[in-house]
Amino acid sequence: MHTQKLRDIAKALVATDKGLLAMDESHPTCDKRFAALGIPRTEEARRAYRELIVTTPGLNESISGVILFDETIRQSKKDGTPFVKAITDAGIIPGIKVDRGATELAGHPGEKITEGLDGLRDRLKEYFHMGARFAKWRGVITMGNGIPSRGCIAANAHALARYAALCQEAGLVPIVEPEVLMDGDHTLERCYEVTEEVLHSVFNQLYRQMVVLEGMILKPNMVLPGLSCRTQATLDEVADATVRCLLRTVPAAVPGIAFLSGGQSGELASARLNAMNARFRSRLPWALTFSYARAIQQPALEIWQGKDIHVMAAQHALYHRANCNRSARRGEYSAAMERA
Ligand code: G3H
Repeated sequence: MHTQKLRDIAKALVATDKGLLAMDESHPTCDKRFAALGIPRTEEARRAYRELIVTTPGLNESISGVILFDETIRQSKKDGTPFVKAITDAGIIPGIKVDRGATELAGHPGEKITEGLDGLRDRLKEYFHMGARFAKWRGVITMGNGIPSRGCIAANAHALARYAALCQEAGLVPIVEPEVLMDGDHTLERCYEVTEEVLHSVFNQLYRQMVVLEGMILKPNMVLPGLSCRTQATLDEVADATVRCLLRTVPAAVPGIAFLSGGQSGELASARLNAMNARFRSRLPWALTFSYARAIQQPALEIWQGKDIHVMAAQHALYHRANCNRSARRGEYSAAMERA
């Protein structure tokens, strides 16, 4: 294992106030988002959309790494330049989603386990040769009546740790993503309790599987009340609860924590990240950054609508959201940036 290289990549992913852009939607997820906007659900439409993203001028000012999907890492720009080359030439590190999605966990109604460990060693070797330098695996924790169960948390934590160890063996930095979902009417306090237990379990398993903490990035949810909870939280309440939870669970050896957006609007995801950095940045052992998909891409996708004439305007929107999040990393984001 090339420990020093892993450390360098992990550090580079969170350096100079940048963050990650997830563009790793599976076919069904991408198709669902395209269908909602009347965009054709074809391989060419997915390729054209991904070309729009990776050729956005100035994207590298805010984005250190992009997470690709298996189909995308094999695709090229219209002029024949492979996406991986275009991304690397822009000074951005290519990454790859390697899990094969979440499915029902046997014996645990309503809960999920992520698949993809079988054959992963060989797939990681191939992705490394294709130019990927980091990877992502998402575990899903569903909130509800009597769930999550200990069994679900333990199974997902174990899978995340097995994946992370295999990544490091292959020279790829693992992005470890245990996502406590926002759906439900649970309170902020309940989300705190569950997130704390999940993160303890994940780091316990990472330790057991000999994962080098300096060579990984954690991608957690923020601590939030459920979407249908009657009491929603202020920016400061979310910042306090999330940072307190992370300080109690994430070892200082981890170089960075890059949040998922989970369905928050672009503005809210920026404002909440900003509140954490504005209040706590100087006192935290790790960088607090972003690894958003919807919270960066959604406005651009809505503008594009699958039409070439909208590419520039869509790229402008994408650049704007990425730039807002870079400001949020510095604790310098404000709502005025949205009007500018
Ligand atoms: O796995 C989920 C993505 O990488 C992040 O997506 O920001 O839309 O939740 P999201």
